Amino acid sequence: MAIRKITEYPEEVLAKVGKPVEKFDDELAVLCEDMYETMYDAEGVGLAAPQIGLNLRLFVMDCDGVKLIAANPEIIETEGEQASHEGCLSVGKVPAVVKRPMKAKLRAQNEKGEWFEAEAEGYAARAFMHETDHCDGKLFIDHLPKMRREMVITRFKKEKRWK
Ligand code: NI
Repeated sequence: MAIRKITEYPEEVLAKVGKPVEKFDDELAVLCEDMYETMYDAEGVGLAAPQIGLNLRLFVMDCDGVKLIAANPEIIETEGEQASHEGCLSVGKVPAVVKRPMKAKLRAQNEKGEWFEAEAEGYAARAFMHETDHCDGKLFIDHLPKMRREMVITRFKKEKRWK
């Protein structure tokens, strides 16, 4: 197992639509273990492959009691609305309020290639959507109005300089 380097905004891979996961082999299992280790080390609740520099439709999460690996994820149903703080390891965890559906249903494959569906509400539903967005080359700041997006980016850059 290894902790991988987290890619940060504005690295190009974060804005690319990921390639489908096609091989469900030992290599993928190791990659998922690395992603978990990297996520826990960074004290995150979700991590997608583009965040470690891989242009791949894959994420891991452990959020609000929902722990899963999702390859080739899709959000197939949403319901309601929530607006709360969201942050991203690739944007220095600078928080901003993002509106999202309250509930979401995820369809994805596990590390063995088996398809499954999972439903979540609140924080975990937010993670489903945030991480699936990463697989589509989208960051949470892309959901923000222009001014608020700029504010997050400015703060992220400033905090990065202090480190
Ligand atoms: Ni993120």
